[in-house]
Amino acid sequence: MKVEYFTEVASTNDVARNGTYGHGDVVVAEVQTAGRGQRGNRWESARGANLTFSVVLKPTFLPVADQFLLSEAVALAVADTLGEYGIEARVKWPNDIYVDGNKIAGILIENDIMGVTMARSVAGIGLNVNQTEFDPSLPNPVSMKLAADRDFDCREILGRFLGALSARYETLASGDRGPIICDYHRLLYRLGEPARYTLPDGTIITATIEGVRPGGELLLRHADGSIGEYLFKEISYS
Ligand code: BTN
Repeated sequence: MKVEYFTEVASTNDVARNGTYGHGDVVVAEVQTAGRGQRGNRWESARGANLTFSVVLKPTFLPVADQFLLSEAVALAVADTLGEYGIEARVKWPNDIYVDGNKIAGILIENDIMGVTMARSVAGIGLNVNQTEFDPSLPNPVSMKLAADRDFDCREILGRFLGALSARYETLASGDRGPIICDYHRLLYRLGEPARYTLPDGTIITATIEGVRPGGELLLRHADGSIGEYLFKEISYS
């Protein structure tokens, strides 16, 4: 396992996917010039203030149909790490990390598959650490410093995260999915709370999160009592 630090890269996910990194290797950047987020968004992060890194994993034991468990394990490892610093985090489906209703970290996982099992996953994580001023276009950013009112050491946080990820990954590799599914639901943002969601055609609905299916689909109870299953591209939070 190697941890490589770069002063500047386009995206740590792109570097980590270039074929020279093995299981457990980590690519860290002080700044990304083209950091990528979910839904085609950019990930902006002030130079040197935060953690932007990618971890290469080779979960060849994991069936493709169960790949969401890996996403859950990575999200939980971020939440576990924040918990070690006394910051209580929640997971906003599918894998945003929230503190008091604000986004503290984002995760972008890019998978390669081989037949019916996973071949490689590159888990890219952007964690806001010491940044206190953000682009006004961002809806609700927060950082560890804003949450805890002190500065943090990014390298130390990375070390703790890698420990937390290793523990979650070992659980997954052992075939014991229970703790991951249970902890993911325990930390699920808005579970059981009625809230508004937007469908792809712009319709806004009020519904309540009932849970997340093993395949990663969000389960929502509608106002009429029916349950709907939604993929990531089929729903967004209003
Ligand atoms: C999101 O919330 O939209 C996901 C953001 C993921 C950002 C991280 S930063 C490190 C890695 N490299 C990237 O280009 N993106 C991820």
